[in-house]
Amino acid sequence: MRLFSLFSLSALVSLGTALGDYEPYEYKNQFELPGGRSNASIDEPVHKPLKFKDFYSDFKTRLDDISTTVCNLSLAAYEGNMTARQALGPVRSYCWTHANCIIATLDERTKASFSGTTILLGLAPTTLSVLGPSVAELALLSIHRPFITLLISLGAPAVFPGRFLQWEDPLRANEPAVGAFLVRPMASPWKWIVLFLQYALAGGAVANVFHAAWRIGTLSIVSWACETSFWPVIWVLLSLIIHLCAILSLRTAITRKTEFGQPRNMEYELSQSVHENGEPNTQRSFPRAWIFISEFTLSADNEWQVSDLYNIRLGPLPVLLQYVGAFLSVLYLVFGTLMFSSLLFIGLSEAVLLIIRMVGSAAICRILVQFEVGGMIRVDERRVYKGIVQAPLEGFGKED
Ligand SMILES: *[C@@H]1O[C@H](CO)[C@@H](O)[C@H](O)[C@H]1NC(C)=O
Ligand SMILES: *[C@@H]1O[C@H](CO)[C@@H](O)[C@H](O)[C@H]1NC(C)=O
Ligand SMILES: *[C@@H]1O[C@H](CO)[C@@H](O)[C@H](O)[C@H]1NC(C)=O
Repeated sequence: MRLFSLFSLSALVSLGTALGDYEPYEYKNQFELPGGRSNASIDEPVHKPLKFKDFYSDFKTRLDDISTTVCNLSLAAYEGNMTARQALGPVRSYCWTHANCIIATLDERTKASFSGTTILLGLAPTTLSVLGPSVAELALLSIHRPFITLLISLGAPAVFPGRFLQWEDPLRANEPAVGAFLVRPMASPWKWIVLFLQYALAGGAVANVFHAAWRIGTLSIVSWACETSFWPVIWVLLSLIIHLCAILSLRTAITRKTEFGQPRNMEYELSQSVHENGEPNTQRSFPRAWIFISEFTLSADNEWQVSDLYNIRLGPLPVLLQYVGAFLSVLYLVFGTLMFSSLLFIGLSEAVLLIIRMVGSAAICRILVQFEVGGMIRVDERRVYKGIVQAPLEGFGKED
C-alpha cells in the first residue's frame, strides 16, 4: 500500500514535469473501416478486472504517467465515462485505443525491452515442457495416488509432449533406468512427514502457478483479447486435458486380474487400516477404501504395482487416446507460445521473475513425481549402490 502510494506520488511529481514532454496523441485510425467488423458501441459494458490500473514494476512509473496524462481521454473512455466516449468518437475497441495511445507515446528503449520480453516469454512453454513430468509417469502415478497426481498436473503446466503415433507404455515409467534414485520404504513418523511435505509442496506449486498466471493476465494485455484477463489461467488449466487423455488411456487399457483373486498385499493393507480404525473387517467395501488408502501411501511403502493387479490389453481406444494426447500436447505448446508471445507491457525483469516462478513449480512437481516413481522401482539389490541404480550386472542380464 505504501509502495503503491509512493509510486503514485512519484507519478504525480513527474506529471508536472513530464506533461510537456509527450506529444498529444491524436487518436487517428482507431475506428473500424467500413466493411470491417464493427465499432465498439458507445455504451459497451466495462469488463472487470480493469486493465491499466496497475502495471508491472519495470516501467510502472512511466506507463502510469503516460496512461493518466496524454492518454487520459482513452483511459476515461475505457473505464466507461460517457463524456469521454463521446469526445473520442467511434473506435473499434476502447481497450486497444488506450493501449495504442500508450504504445505510440512510449520511448523506443521501453518498446525494445517489451519486444525482448516477448521472445523470452514465447520460449517459456517449450522450455518448461522439458522440465515437467511426463504424461506417462503421471498416468502411472494416477492409479496409485489420484489426488496428488491432479495437484502435480496443475502445478507443472507445460506438458512434455509424447511422440505422435508412437505408443509409450506408462507401465514402463518405473523401469530401473541406470542412474535413477531408489526411494526406500519409510517407517511411521517419517512417512507422515514426507506425505505432509508432498501435499504442501504440490499445493504450493499449484498456488504459485495460478497466482503467477492470474497476475500476468491482469497486469498485461493479450494482444488478441485486450480486455480479458483469464487466458494465462486457461492455459494452465488446459494441461489437464492432456493428462486426462493419458490417464484415460491407461485406465481403458487395464483390466483387473481375476484368476489369482485379490493380491495378498492389498488385502493386508486393507485389513491393517481397518484395524487402525477399529472397525470390523466384515465387508469389503473395496474400491473406495482402497483408493483412499492408496492415496495416502507413499509409493515406496506400497507393496503392489499396477502390473500386479491389472492385465494390460491394448485396444484401439487406449492407443487412440494416447495419440490424441500427444497431438494435443503439441497444440498446447503452440497455443502457449502464441499466448505468451502476445503479452504486452511486461518488462524484462518481471518476465524473468515469472519464468523463475514457473520453472520452480515445474521442477518441484518433477521431483515429486520422480520421488514416487523412485519408490516404485523394483530392482535387483546387487545393482544398487548408495540408493542409485547401476548398470546391469555381468552375467545376470535382466532382473526378474
Ligand atoms: C466505424 O465508425 C466509423 C466512423 O464513424 C465509420 O466510418 C465506419 O463505417 C464504422 N465501421 C463500421 C464497421 O461500421
Ligand atoms: C485530460 O487531461 C487534460 C490536461 O490535463 C485535461 O484538460 C482533460 O480534461 C483531461 N481529460 C479527461 C477525460 O480527464
Ligand atoms: C467523465 O470525464 C469528464 C472529463 O472528460 C469529467 O468531467 C467527468 O466527471 C467524468 N465522469 C465520471 C462519471 O467520471
